[in-house]
Amino acid sequence: MDIFKKIAKNRGPLGQHSKAAQGYFIFPKLEGEISNKMKFRGQEMLVWSVNNYLGLANHPEVRKADADAAAKWGLAYPMGARMMTGHTKYHEQLENELSDFMQMEDTYLLNFGYQGMVSAIDSLVDRRDVIIYDSESHACILDGSRLHQGKRFVYPHNNIENLEKQLERASKLTNKSDGGILVVTEGVFGMSGDQGKLKEILALKEKYEFRLFVDDAHGFGTIGATGRGTGEEQGVHDQIDIYFGTFAKSMAMIGGFLSGNENVIEFLRYNMRSQVFAKSMPMPLVFGALKRLELLRTKPELRENLWKIANALQKGLREAGFFLANTNTQVTPVMLNGTLAEATNITLELREKYHIFCSIVVYPVVPKGVIMLRLIPTAIHTLDDVNYTIETFNKIQKKLKSGVYSEEDEGIVAWK
Ligand SMILES: Cc1ncc(COP(=O)(O)O)c(C=O)c1O
Repeated sequence: MDIFKKIAKNRGPLGQHSKAAQGYFIFPKLEGEISNKMKFRGQEMLVWSVNNYLGLANHPEVRKADADAAAKWGLAYPMGARMMTGHTKYHEQLENELSDFMQMEDTYLLNFGYQGMVSAIDSLVDRRDVIIYDSESHACILDGSRLHQGKRFVYPHNNIENLEKQLERASKLTNKSDGGILVVTEGVFGMSGDQGKLKEILALKEKYEFRLFVDDAHGFGTIGATGRGTGEEQGVHDQIDIYFGTFAKSMAMIGGFLSGNENVIEFLRYNMRSQVFAKSMPMPLVFGALKRLELLRTKPELRENLWKIANALQKGLREAGFFLANTNTQVTPVMLNGTLAEATNITLELREKYHIFCSIVVYPVVPKGVIMLRLIPTAIHTLDDVNYTIETFNKIQKKLKSGVYSEEDEGIVAWK
């Protein structure tokens, strides 16, 4: 079979919807400054879809730091991979400041979060080792594990009893192979908003030998007393073996970092293929990250605002009878029962009538018959935004129960 003929027929799980959904449900264009209000197809919307958790995207100091660094350095410098010609004292400074903030021995910068996670997992294990990961893990954890040539086991989401079974199985194998075990989990699960049970996972170290790698993309900067993330929130920060944070969420930028002990980070520096064989992070991003980290560290009011909004939103929705799954973080999934047609019509009505833009998640990400409206509160939302949204969701819920949204594909036809 010719590859191009094959992909012409099978467009993939999302691609199969491209004709019906592109430009509206998939690849929508949000315009204007990144904020609580942005434009979509010319109409101002209240946006609950952007992971600008601390509202840093348009903070004046951030915009100035970004612009000044771009004017001074351009986007090229430094050229080459860090190891060859792409290293500077500023990259090192950013790594040192991140290590200080994270209270970990050392840090390694990543050009991209997703690729960094894939590559870090890949570089840490060899065919004698076993990877064990949570079933609801982000694609970067799944893909990193797929590169692994040894065994990989999965445990049902946050099921510690089952994790223990997998550790038992894995230990039998590694005892024979003389390999090790790497357990990987998200700190904050980005879809459902619940936290990985780091404390319970780490308690298993008393019985089993393994290392814990935490992808805290959504926890870095948002939770824990000082924003150090899920480990800090659960009182086990100092027991995490390798910590991953992204710059693409609370820092409103791109890139990420890995923190851990000196020995491990030194190993990653020399072995992570996504960094060794790729150009170094350009200067405006390095200076942009330094400024964002400074604000994240010195302005706790940003995190407090995020939590004021997140708490009000979740309290209001729960009081109105909505089920928010097991979230115990800012990520706010509103779970409804309905079909794909109903999900489509709800999205359409939210955007066209109420001018609310949020992400809608359907099968296969959630089970068939479930609709997840995923709301991302940020520090720059207002309590008015919250109240308006709760009122609107009440109206939507009533209409959904009355069956009004069930007409097949009406929504898709209507927006075109
Ligand atoms: C849990 C998790 N890990 C990793 C990533 C990838 O991060 P980045 O966007 O920095 O590539 C994401 C982003 O969606 C994420 O949610």
